[in-house]
Amino acid sequence: MSKRPPVALIVLAAGQGSRMRSDLPKVLHRVAHAPLLAHALRTGHSMDPARCVIVAGHGGAAVEAAAQAHAPKADVVHQTEQKGTAHAVAQARAALEGFDGDVIVLYGDTPFIRPETLEAMRAARADGADVVVLGFEAAEPGRYGRLIAHGDRLERIVEAKDATAAELAVRLCNSGVIAARASVLFELIDQVGCDNAAGEYYLTDIVGLARAARLSARVVTCPEAETMGVNTRADLAAAEAAFQARMRRDAMEAGVTLTAPDTVFLAFDTVIGRDVVVEPHVVFGPGVTVDPGATIRAYSHLEGCHVSAGCVVGPYARLRPGAELDRDVRVGNFVEVKAATLRQGAKINHLSYIGDAEIGVRANVGAGTITCNYDGVFKHRTTVGARAFIGSNTALVAPVRIGADAMTGSGSVITGDVPDGALGLGRSKQVNKDGFALRLMRKLREAKARKTN
Ligand code: UD1
Ligand code: MG
Repeated sequence: MSKRPPVALIVLAAGQGSRMRSDLPKVLHRVAHAPLLAHALRTGHSMDPARCVIVAGHGGAAVEAAAQAHAPKADVVHQTEQKGTAHAVAQARAALEGFDGDVIVLYGDTPFIRPETLEAMRAARADGADVVVLGFEAAEPGRYGRLIAHGDRLERIVEAKDATAAELAVRLCNSGVIAARASVLFELIDQVGCDNAAGEYYLTDIVGLARAARLSARVVTCPEAETMGVNTRADLAAAEAAFQARMRRDAMEAGVTLTAPDTVFLAFDTVIGRDVVVEPHVVFGPGVTVDPGATIRAYSHLEGCHVSAGCVVGPYARLRPGAELDRDVRVGNFVEVKAATLRQGAKINHLSYIGDAEIGVRANVGAGTITCNYDGVFKHRTTVGARAFIGSNTALVAPVRIGADAMTGSGSVITGDVPDGALGLGRSKQVNKDGFALRLMRKLREAKARKTN
């Protein structure tokens, strides 16, 4: 097998996206909790690129920060004026100085191209095509560039604005994804002019220029669903729906039971193991891992947490960042857990807030227990030992430590440590006043009778 050339990505992300009507650059709008740009980068990185250049413009600083988070090795270059897609690609030239492999141009606002599709484009390059363009049969070709081709041999691309009626009838459209050898790409781009309806430098012109220079150009096609771009809020919602549908399908194929798939919302990085059951109306924020065999019951909300095998979470539970559940833990209804480790077999079944805490092996936390972890300035830790029993409605005023096998009395406000095996009581002693209730009620009823007479 011949050795394939290295790949560099150029991701175009300079456009304003004015139809989003937003202060946020379009590529930073999120699908499944990740910016559109991150989705495009993720697909691109399946090629294991040697280099990656992101062309930023509108909201450049914010785009640069997102690039740092999702592709720390990428170079971000700035296109100060948006003069068209060819001009945008030209901005990456300096960053790719000395690179002598294939370049793949992606759009930051086109999140769903599959790795297999980019692979097919690489294969076409390896098979001798000088320029490879990703096309698709559009249901409504509208504003897309039209691919003028004979079979998979591409002659030129004509933008809708510049097309004749006959050309507009063509349904094979340009996705925008283009692959070519770096040196060829930049040579062709040097020749692109801006004498067209938009007065822009069109990247699409490189196909006609390549053919005029007796180079070959080829179309690789993919389903339209992959080339879905995001231009409006409605497109963003449609992209979210499409991505959710794909993730739910993948989860079920991997052995997860979703009893009502359409009501479960996943994040781009949600990891759910085999034989996990997810009941209706569960929402996963970013950073969640659920190990095989756990159950997530209805109406729960999870983010930034890890749920081990055998756990049952919910219904109506909230796991916030830093919630770490060891095996066989129970977190029941209206329980919120944040930055807390719950050791094996621990139970917190009703109406609690557990934050900045460690709850020991098989400890039982009674209904209504609250860790008072915040003094208004600092956060403090609560530690509950193995097999401890926390009475209902205990306030654990942190920093505080409850020993192993210890108990707290219901309704206690616990401000000091409780030693191993001890009972901590932090409430006033009960006093009974004989006959008091009867006397009080009689008095009140008499007062009411005087008023109404
Ligand atoms: C482009 C293609 C069209 C294709 C369509 C697919 C051209 C000339 N046309 O048209 O054939 O069918 O995409 O969606 O290429 N960008 C920059 N800097 C610029 C201009 C654009 O970074 O100066 C970026 C945009 O942010 C966007 C991408 O390039 O991510 C495409 O630009 P856009 O203006 O949306 O091009 P279209 O008119 O949709
Ligand atoms: Mg567009």
